[in-house]
Amino acid sequence: MTESTLYGGIVNRRITVRDLQSAKDRGERWAMLTSYDMLTASLFDEAGVPALLVGDSAGNNVLGYDTTVPVTVEDMIPLVRAVARSTHRALVIADLPFGSYQASPAQALETSVRFLREGAQAVKLEGGRRVLPQVELLVESGVPVMGHLGLTPQSVNTLGGYRVQGRGEAGDRLLEDALALQEAGAFALVLEVVPADLAERVSKELVIPTVGIGAGPGCDAQVLVWTDMAGLTPGPGPKFLKRYADLRTTLTEAATSYVDDVREGRYPAAEHGYS
Ligand code: KIV
Repeated sequence: MTESTLYGGIVNRRITVRDLQSAKDRGERWAMLTSYDMLTASLFDEAGVPALLVGDSAGNNVLGYDTTVPVTVEDMIPLVRAVARSTHRALVIADLPFGSYQASPAQALETSVRFLREGAQAVKLEGGRRVLPQVELLVESGVPVMGHLGLTPQSVNTLGGYRVQGRGEAGDRLLEDALALQEAGAFALVLEVVPADLAERVSKELVIPTVGIGAGPGCDAQVLVWTDMAGLTPGPGPKFLKRYADLRTTLTEAATSYVDDVREGRYPAAEHGYS
């Protein structure tokens, strides 16, 4: 292990987009998680997660929306601030919400500057060739950009639901989009819910790292929504999901035990009082 590996090395400074590129260059896979608040951000940072995404999935995990479409910049600002202020090592990436970058490169820059002022080090945006002018201006202006192709949830209304993207000829178009984003200066690319063989092909063709979610094992990195990863979200979840804990059961049991204890007079007990 060298000092610059993501796991074991780089302990006393923030991880940069160059570190993520070096990891791909030497074949070191890395993990990204979403985070939207102080406690999970500091915990994941201390656990060694090298990149934290303040995702617009906050819409369906924090803000009470059904999709990411209603999420605004104003919704995201306090979340980005909390995650940035609570971490020392992880690269913090702020998701540009729907409607905050599509209108023009200037709009994308204005939104990104707001997030970088809150402490994020990079931004993510959805889309292929149609957002190239945005990516180019951001990168020229000093804003590292993560792209996002495949199932792009902000376009759920045009995609007609959350379904696998890039099958058949659409796979060739996705590869062209990926290459164009790389050419425009993106430092990494999320591939969401695409066939595993397509994701592997894109990962081999691209120099920059790919970050898969529902894209099989051939990507250079993986990302999961933390509430899915930890088993807090209800329901069976998508096929690609692996749950690493069952926080929903743990928290439900804790809450019902607390309610029972209060009702039965077991809490607070004498030892919880002050003299
Ligand atoms: O908002 C989000 O959490 C995302 C990830 C699923 C990549 O975009």
